[in-house]
Amino acid sequence: MSQRVLVTGGSGFVGSSLALAMKRDHPEWRVTSLDNLKRRGSELILNRLRAGGVDFLHGDIRQPEDLAAAGPCDLLVECSAEPSVHAGYGASPAYLVNTNLVGTLNCLEHCRVHGATVVFLSSSRIYPIAGLCALPLVNEGDRLVLGQEAAGRGWSRAGIAEDFPLEGSRSLYGATKLASELILEEYRAMYGLKAVINRCGVLAGPWQMGKVDQGFMVLWAARHSYGGALSYMGFGGKGHQVRDVLHVDDLYDLVMMQLADIGRHDGVVYNVGGGAAISTSLAELTGLCQRVTGRTIAIGETPETRAADVPWYISDCAKVTAATGWRSRRSLEHIVEDVSVWLRDNRPMLEPILGA
Ligand SMILES: NC(=O)c1ccc[n+]([C@@H]2O[C@H](COP(=O)([O-])OP(=O)(O)OC[C@H]3O[C@@H](n4cnc5c(N)ncnc54)[C@H](O)[C@@H]3O)[C@@H](O)[C@H]2O)c1
Repeated sequence: MSQRVLVTGGSGFVGSSLALAMKRDHPEWRVTSLDNLKRRGSELILNRLRAGGVDFLHGDIRQPEDLAAAGPCDLLVECSAEPSVHAGYGASPAYLVNTNLVGTLNCLEHCRVHGATVVFLSSSRIYPIAGLCALPLVNEGDRLVLGQEAAGRGWSRAGIAEDFPLEGSRSLYGATKLASELILEEYRAMYGLKAVINRCGVLAGPWQMGKVDQGFMVLWAARHSYGGALSYMGFGGKGHQVRDVLHVDDLYDLVMMQLADIGRHDGVVYNVGGGAAISTSLAELTGLCQRVTGRTIAIGETPETRAADVPWYISDCAKVTAATGWRSRRSLEHIVEDVSVWLRDNRPMLEPILGA
């Protein structure tokens, strides 16, 4: 198993969670977080990294010299990104493309030079928007569902599988992730790089700096905890759109299983998420946040759908479960409670960032 681990984006939500858990479980490993602290709130994680024995290097993956300064590694976990699917709409796509595509390529180069294995955090957003919007959904209570018998290539009530058709546009965010997957495949073929690709649905947990365009679970819990406005955006403004949610600790469990048997998972692409059992609509999430926090807040309705929004996404995890035995264990209630306790215990530090 690897001993020198470089986690790019290692002061963000996923990167810091994985880095700290690796160091906790393998104190003999040297774990380094490299991050340019672009995400607001990532700076709050630095003390946590220090306390957990993770080294921090201020650096930018757009700059190969910054990666070189991190030195050789055996494993690179690529968690740095502009993570919002809405990035670039109505604005320059430069940061998004230079980080998520060019920066990822720089990370692969670093791995080629040092013979390091890669864990790549891809996204459910590689699946095209029009294809997801065309699913035959109907309202059932406070959520959209697929009809009982409805199924097609790569989709069913169990969710979206890896063979969902890829034709069509997917946002520049999704395109940078899919393009990175393709380049990663070439690095495997040409240079023998070992890599595992996880196409993640929504991830959540403490230390996620949720905002309107990314991290809705934490945003919802934060507004219920600290007060402030929320709005159901898109699809008529009723909050019936559905996502599955995965606790970041469940992701960590999976990554460690994959690394323990990298020969088997090398080059394999997996859809990874909470699955149908751990999914929620926004309206259902409101009810859960009300129960957990004991607070009700006003929620507005914005009927217009933004360009990159999709009404329903659930990860069909059958492939990863068959390959590893892994399945998501932490329930939605657990996730909301975990996040709410974190919001309560760290209020003075978090409210300036996560408050209204
Ligand atoms: N959170 C989710 O729901 C989710 C779902 C699917 C995929 N992902 C992917 O997982 C990865 C981690 O996401 P996250 O939720 O932790 O996001 P995050 O914003 O919390 O973390 C990303 C980190 O990368 C850093 N960063 C941004 N640009 C950088 C650059 N040029 N150089 C160095 N560091 C840079 C940011 O400062 C931040 O700390 C991303 O690749 C994201 O696309 C996340």
